[in-house]
Amino acid sequence: MCYGDDMKFEKIYFDTLESTNKTASDYPVGSVIIAHKQTGGKGRYGKVWESPVGNLYMSIVLPDYGNKTPDLAFVVAVAMADAFCDFGVRLKWPNDILLDGKKLAGILLERMDDKIIVGIGVNIISAPATNMAYQVTHLQGKMTPEAALDLILNSLSKTLSLFETQGFGAIQGIWKQKAVGIGTHITVNLPNERIQGIFKDLSESGALMLELPDKTIMEITAGVVFLI
Ligand code: BTN
Repeated sequence: MCYGDDMKFEKIYFDTLESTNKTASDYPVGSVIIAHKQTGGKGRYGKVWESPVGNLYMSIVLPDYGNKTPDLAFVVAVAMADAFCDFGVRLKWPNDILLDGKKLAGILLERMDDKIIVGIGVNIISAPATNMAYQVTHLQGKMTPEAALDLILNSLSKTLSLFETQGFGAIQGIWKQKAVGIGTHITVNLPNERIQGIFKDLSESGALMLELPDKTIMEITAGVVFLI
């Protein structure tokens, strides 16, 4: 089934939710769940996503794309780069959104039954002040959460359409133009180790190809990248 151009998003608002991703699993494809605040916002790797009033917390219900579902991490990242293009945002593998090198927004994809939930948090007026492993930032209220939401949905509609008509190669091409760190020395935190090397390229499937000191290439499918 093709959803791209025809995807009609329906916005459903809540004041407070534990997590928009959790609630989204009860809704059909095309639904967008938005909350003014979350009491149990989820980040990647089981981390908490602090969710006070004033920022954007949204989850989009997409269909399962079968073996192409992992590509969605890049599709959504490219849509975010397009949505916030005027701010000059960049992408950090696989799908962190950076402004001036600091994390502005995060994306959490979860498979729930036969649906894919795309959770997006954008720091509009505040960012966590606690000791994060990386620096964070916000838009200083230069845009409302509602305006950011509409930009994201518009961009996602276009980007999904591009993905469906031109394939993952087209998405990767845009992702690489917006990415930080390609060709440079990086550190990657894996679940049980921290490794360093040169970020050579993306593999066909979107894995990070890291050249290790012995010149072998390691393909990384999950991990946290640091640009140092
Ligand atoms: C990350 O760790 O970078 C991903 C953060 C994703 C946060 C968003 S906020 C809306 C949606 N609901 C959640 O519980 N998490 C995502």
